[in-house]
Amino acid sequence: MKHLIATIVLTVAAQTVFAQQPIYLDESKNIEERIEDALNRMTLDEKIAVIHAQSKFSSAGIKRLGFPDFWTDDGPHGVRPDVLWDEWEQAGQTNDSCAAFPALSCLAATWNPQMARLYGESLGEEALYRNKAMILGPGVNIYRTPLNGRNFEYMGEDPWLASRMVVPYVQGLQSKGVAACVKHYALNNDEDFRHQVNVIVDDRTLHEIYLPAFRAAVTEGHAWGIMGAYNLYRNQHNCHNEILLNQILKRDWQFDGVVVSDWGGTHNTEEAIKNGLDLEFGTWTDGLTMGKTNAYDNYYLADAYKRLIREGKYTERELNDKVRRVLRLFFRTTMNKHKGYGFLCSESHYEVARSIAEEGIVLLKNDKVKTKKNGAAMSLLPLRLDDAKRILVVGENAIKMMTVGGGSSSLKAQFEILPLDGLRKAIGNKVEIDYARGYVGDTVQSYNGVTVGRSLYETRTADVLRNEAVEKAKGADYVIFFGGLNKSDFQDCEGHDRKQYGLPYGQDELVEALLTVNKKLVFVNISGNAVAMPWMSRVPAIVQGWFLGSETGEALANVLLGIVNPSGKLPFTWHAALNDVPAHRLNAYPGIWRTQHDIIDEEYKEGLFVGYRGVDKFKTKPLFAFGHGLSYTSFSLGKAIADKSEMTREDKISFTLSVTNTGSCAGSEVVQLYVSDVKSSLPRPLKELKAFKKVFLQPGETQNVTLTIDVDALSFYDDSKQNWVAEPGDFVALIGTSSDHLTSKVKFKLR
Ligand code: BGC
Repeated sequence: MKHLIATIVLTVAAQTVFAQQPIYLDESKNIEERIEDALNRMTLDEKIAVIHAQSKFSSAGIKRLGFPDFWTDDGPHGVRPDVLWDEWEQAGQTNDSCAAFPALSCLAATWNPQMARLYGESLGEEALYRNKAMILGPGVNIYRTPLNGRNFEYMGEDPWLASRMVVPYVQGLQSKGVAACVKHYALNNDEDFRHQVNVIVDDRTLHEIYLPAFRAAVTEGHAWGIMGAYNLYRNQHNCHNEILLNQILKRDWQFDGVVVSDWGGTHNTEEAIKNGLDLEFGTWTDGLTMGKTNAYDNYYLADAYKRLIREGKYTERELNDKVRRVLRLFFRTTMNKHKGYGFLCSESHYEVARSIAEEGIVLLKNDKVKTKKNGAAMSLLPLRLDDAKRILVVGENAIKMMTVGGGSSSLKAQFEILPLDGLRKAIGNKVEIDYARGYVGDTVQSYNGVTVGRSLYETRTADVLRNEAVEKAKGADYVIFFGGLNKSDFQDCEGHDRKQYGLPYGQDELVEALLTVNKKLVFVNISGNAVAMPWMSRVPAIVQGWFLGSETGEALANVLLGIVNPSGKLPFTWHAALNDVPAHRLNAYPGIWRTQHDIIDEEYKEGLFVGYRGVDKFKTKPLFAFGHGLSYTSFSLGKAIADKSEMTREDKISFTLSVTNTGSCAGSEVVQLYVSDVKSSLPRPLKELKAFKKVFLQPGETQNVTLTIDVDALSFYDDSKQNWVAEPGDFVALIGTSSDHLTSKVKFKLR
């Protein structure tokens, strides 16, 4: 009897445990098994509910089965403040400020993948604390034209550099249990008419220039999400594009994550069903009109899809694939019990933000000028305080917050140290710091509900402001001009491109006027894009200051004062004129409107020859080359030696050279390796970046640097074979410190 009771008790207990622990909740089970189990329990309504939004930034979980709602947020430089459920306006929370990290163009300029890892991890911790399961970023669209208003959100012009930086960002973020959503896949390389542009590009260029960073994010970074772009490719919107999504992303790259539409990037139910879209967000429409509120059931992947299944036009085959992916995403994020709780605005996050800012700032130019003390000629930077009584700071960007504005990447930073404040804090009262605004660009007091820190209200005319700056510049020991672009419309801002290459708001005239009274001028360009600099040869020191996030002023002051030795390198070519940019030279931007159609065909006529590849082909002379960046110390590179003269397809080949810090302060140098294919069956760029390494050296220190490549670095995409090929023959490795300063040339053969 006792035995029987025990058996009954045990059986009931086992059943209870079983009932409490279905396979999908059993963490000891394989994730694919859990997905199948959950899928089998879902109703059609539940399946449809998880593949489209339920608010501006969330989609539904499966309440009945214990899956919480899924929250996304921008991206990519910090966690965006909350907006209302169904509106773009701020929700007015008091706990949604964040640490703002430098823009991705700055991250790319560090040429330091470890920084990208730290970036991803820190952002992941902030996202966790804010209960966001997916960050809408990073962005890896290629810098094709300096007019693209969103280049600041991306990682430059080179597919290899962007690939090496995106992988650790994605891994760092996802190591915290927060999904990346790599964007905007693909060919979203300008903003004007982004909903209408149909990109025409040959397969080689697509695979060699525009896809590698996405591919690396997927195949190496194992990104859990990717965002379809607004534009079209081969006449089909990229959020439901058969070639880009079904064939390349899901079949060739074996992407097992979720394709998220860009907000309002879905246009057609049947294409969305068949062509790889998994999660629809931001559609403003009821299918016909714009501006409906709470129209989520009218989304392309909502009622319309359900109807087609009920009518028998589609089975649940495609739907189940989408739902499996969404469930996989849930298990990786919201259902991951082992992820932490995260934390926000911590000292560690600010330290990461500052380190990235300091490593990304690029010293473009630093000529010698005569010093006051003994008349000796010395580089203008770093600033020498013992030789100075008064420093004049000029420019609106010295007092303008840049974490606010620019579109969807706009943040509500807990703080942002402005350049003027950073300098004042670092210099204290050792030297007088005077300020003159010099020009007015922007007087906006708030952006989407976030107040801009310092009042930019101004009533004085441009002439008055310029004259004041020139007057104050007379006799100043240094004039530091913080100019460049800003995050206003038609500047560095989503939705529109810049209208011109030149600096806005009369800054060129102001530079010229300042030069007439003071030659000790430092121009700090705040932007995510190159700008024309007609005065370049006459301004002794130029610094690329990006958009640096919360620690802007601190990082800039540290570099200007030499507390930090700059080591950033340009992630794009700084062309002298817009017409030197291959896309503009060939009249291949912004495309041609189709008569009577709402479509603009943009043919990438320059093909592979983007950025420095174009410089080599068209023999133009940029103001500053891709990979360029100076330091306060100097380095000398020894001759590189290869570990073999011939390699096979299975081999790797390594090049070793010594790098010595020959100057008087510690600093970092980036050793860059470009490959040149001596003879190939298809035309190739003269050289292409294939490896790089950043080394830190004390004064007088020498280190050996080894750069290793394999057959992939020698391959090109053969469109006739629809595959990558490496042709046997001669190659040259060109090694140096920028694309226009390559001091070692080593020949080798592929057998
Ligand atoms: C942008 C995306 C962004 C989304 C959500 C879109 O307009 O293109 O990058 O993630 O809005 O804010």
